[in-house]
Amino acid sequence: MADRISVLIPESVVDAKVKEIGEQISKDYAGKQVHLICILKGGAFFACELAKRITVPVSIDFMQVSSYGDGTSSSGIVRIKKDLDDTLENKEVLIVEDIIDSGRTLHYLMPVLMQRNPASLRLCALLNKPDRREVEVEIDYLGFDIPDEFVIGYGLDYAQQYRNLPFIGVIRPDTSGGGIVSEEKEKGETD
Ligand code: IMP
Ligand code: MG
Repeated sequence: MADRISVLIPESVVDAKVKEIGEQISKDYAGKQVHLICILKGGAFFACELAKRITVPVSIDFMQVSSYGDGTSSSGIVRIKKDLDDTLENKEVLIVEDIIDSGRTLHYLMPVLMQRNPASLRLCALLNKPDRREVEVEIDYLGFDIPDEFVIGYGLDYAQQYRNLPFIGVIRPDTSGGGIVSEEKEKGETD
């Protein structure tokens, strides 16, 4: 059965927000180089789009941390599956993550990275689910607060699917034939 997907945050709104965050980061890091740490796999789409909007020098490294299985609820266990290639010593480090949910992943990761002696360590997240928070996490740059719904797209997956959707969507129980339903179409408008 195909999943029925509705749009929570349209592509144009996400893109405008990424541009805005990129501009803010460029101001805040003026005269410096920012070292982005992309949290795989979900953060990859956001990190690439964000990097394109930053005008100060950028370097990028990748890390994979697992806190979820293929389902939609937290296992509570955080594990480094792929570590960074480069040192963080004296770098202006900015972690780029897709979503902060329970907060467990970043609550675990930030102190681990802090021990590697960066000049600074900040967190940038595209999405935040404040209602789901279990542990404290300070987000320095945030795209959107969203309600407690499981979202997909822009890097976010459901069982490794839908990361490539250019918008933030929600899977709805299938009542029709499935497929992607845009907000406009739901309101009865045409493309
Ligand atoms: P946390 O440790 O609970 O904050 O979870 C963070 C990770 O859980 C994110 O990096 C995502 O990979 C995953 N996650 C949390 N909520 C969602 C969601 O709504 N859709 C897809 N992945 C999610
Ligand atoms: Mg993730």
